[in-house]
Amino acid sequence: MVRIGGTRLHVMDAVSVIGAKRDGRELTDDQISWVIDAFTRGEVADEQMSALAMAIYFQGMTRRELVRWTAAMLDSGKRMDFAALPRPTVDKHSTGGVGDKITLPLVPLVAACGAAVPQLSGRGLGHTGGTLDKMESIPGWRADVSPTRMAEMLADPRIGAVVCAAGADLTPADRRLYALRDVTGTVPSIPLIASSIMSKKIAEGTAALVLDVKVGAGAFMPDADSARELALAMVELGADAGVRTVALLTAMDTPLGRTAGNALEVAESVEVLAGGGPSDVVELTVALAREMVAAAGIRDVDPADKLADGSAMDHWRALVAAQGGDPDAPLPTARHTAVLTAADSGTLTRLDALAVGVAAWRLGAGRARQGEPVQAGAGIEMHAKPGDPVTAGQPLLTLHTDTPEAFARAEAALADAVAIDRTAAPAQASPLVLDRIE
Ligand code: URA
Repeated sequence: MVRIGGTRLHVMDAVSVIGAKRDGRELTDDQISWVIDAFTRGEVADEQMSALAMAIYFQGMTRRELVRWTAAMLDSGKRMDFAALPRPTVDKHSTGGVGDKITLPLVPLVAACGAAVPQLSGRGLGHTGGTLDKMESIPGWRADVSPTRMAEMLADPRIGAVVCAAGADLTPADRRLYALRDVTGTVPSIPLIASSIMSKKIAEGTAALVLDVKVGAGAFMPDADSARELALAMVELGADAGVRTVALLTAMDTPLGRTAGNALEVAESVEVLAGGGPSDVVELTVALAREMVAAAGIRDVDPADKLADGSAMDHWRALVAAQGGDPDAPLPTARHTAVLTAADSGTLTRLDALAVGVAAWRLGAGRARQGEPVQAGAGIEMHAKPGDPVTAGQPLLTLHTDTPEAFARAEAALADAVAIDRTAAPAQASPLVLDRIE
């Protein structure tokens, strides 16, 4: 601090903020507000913010720092306000998993229960797919929706939801920082993930939020303790901001459902909405829907009934059509397929989520850099899940791609993905919901 003519001026510079965090000191409120604001304005350079992210990765943040950091990210842009809607707002966020298409059946299901669901989603990067990439495989569907149209869709009792890209003016600091973290090995930091997710969700203006925090091989958080710490940090940030927030810890050792890839996952989601689909996808969709409905304050409605009676499907069709999509149009398919078969007979004991995610990504379902196109039809179908009996030579995985040269790299990613035990007995799937934090 310096004093000029009686006025106290705080003089900040990025190097001293980075140095303080590098050396394990707690950042002041002023340092945090300044560095996020200056970064958003382009005054703090990308390499400086990357160094600060790495210092945070190693040193962590105190609760006070995290609250301030999240508020500063929020203040970097605009906030949406849906308080005037005639129905309660509630949203969901997943920390990302392989085959995690839950948002697709979940959003119309919760809308069918009477809530308004403003789902601002992202595109995928790396081995986990993005909801917008999945939805964009539906012919005609568009992710850009104006704030006025969003409010109309949310208020419309036939739709009650919107799935769209966040506008550029919503938490611009997070947009810039996430792009840097992605290429500097600083994504898996609990305070950076918590502030990134919660600043976006608070800015989106939802009154209640349910978090699906993934644990396991295919997730950011490989163990339950770190997932619980992340969940708790986010639940506290939500509560501080007046957003009723609940988190479920859910298993991500093996992919969800039987598909990983954009159009393949849309088809599976439609099966769930039609009353079928894989049992794990149905179980998690209903579990999250019950949490969302309760968080929205809606009583006496069971989402399982709204799935069974077709009203969730009606909301899906209205939602797709409202964003230019044709819910009846055939989904795109990949030009080439290859089948991988079981090497042995026995019980499938492992189907590794990370390996399947990386293979689907290499087949063209995901992108390596922001802005790259993805293949709508690319991905993997899984014909058996852990616990299932398998016979030598039976199809285990079907790989889909438009670029057959990708098969070799995808197969390399899958080299150790599968284990078959000749002596193990077939088993029920392990529980998906591991814990609940409120
Ligand atoms: N998703 C986000 O939005 N931010 C993160 O930091 C990680 C996952």
